[in-house]
Amino acid sequence: MSEAEVLREKIHEANIAVHQVEASYYNLFHPEVYSKQEQKRVTATLSEIDGFVADNQKRALDFGAGTGNITGKLLALGYTVTAVDISPAMCTALQNKYQSYVKAHKLTVINAPVEEVDFGVGKFDLITCYSVLHHLPDYEETLRRLCGFLKKGGIMFLDHEASPFFWRPEPTMLTTLVKSMYFHSNPMLNSFYFQIIGFKAPPVDYSLSDYWFKREHSLNHQRIQQIFKKEKFESYTRTDYHLRESWIFNPIYWVYRHICRPETSYWIAKK
Ligand SMILES: C[S@@+](CC[C@H](N)C(=O)[O-])C[C@H]1O[C@@H](n2cnc3c(N)ncnc32)[C@H](O)[C@@H]1O
Repeated sequence: MSEAEVLREKIHEANIAVHQVEASYYNLFHPEVYSKQEQKRVTATLSEIDGFVADNQKRALDFGAGTGNITGKLLALGYTVTAVDISPAMCTALQNKYQSYVKAHKLTVINAPVEEVDFGVGKFDLITCYSVLHHLPDYEETLRRLCGFLKKGGIMFLDHEASPFFWRPEPTMLTTLVKSMYFHSNPMLNSFYFQIIGFKAPPVDYSLSDYWFKREHSLNHQRIQQIFKKEKFESYTRTDYHLRESWIFNPIYWVYRHICRPETSYWIAKK
């Protein structure tokens, strides 16, 4: 096996291990995903995207579907969804949550690495992934392959990835201080909240599973843009936004949001 293949295997195994642990308490452990504000934002964005698809036949692929954050919203919008996830535990949780849709053939859950699935050319009207690219060994190659499964006039939606500003220094001392205070206070607030509700979070090692969520190898948005350009997408726009990262209200958030640069991004690309 080449070095790249060994690393790929290790990243896959790390993702299976992490999400085996996370599957049963994923929604509770991730306020940055399941806060009311974030849920409202994603729901609104997906409804908007729904209207952008040309001649929409409502066939969607949600990869790295997890417990169904995006899958559930797509089903509510009337899509027939194919959900792919490498984690058997996440797939079981997803299937249990949306049993009636599975029975009605509106949802197909595939437990496989997204790198290994093949659907043929132009199969989907909408392809989504939320907080997944940074988990993939070679997200550029995978994204390129997935572009092929999207029909002309379809939309690729990539959400919840570190923005280019996440790892960059803030421009002033004040914003540097506020950003640091914000990101240090959130884990404290969350562990306080977990203590109040009596939830004991097991230790999880994200060092390999979140491979591209590292200063030394962070997600490259310019490369993502180049992929859309090379694949001849009609339009592609990145939007950056601020995230609330705690269940308990963090007053620093408001200052952070108003003076610091946003740390998270999504892409909407039309083929
Ligand atoms: C942070 S979770 C996000 C889950 C979901 N998209 C959401 O919005 O909550 C990342 C998901 O990607 C899955 N994943 C990681 N690597 C993958 C791969 N190579 N192929 C398919 N799924 C993968 C994980 O198992 C996990 O469920």
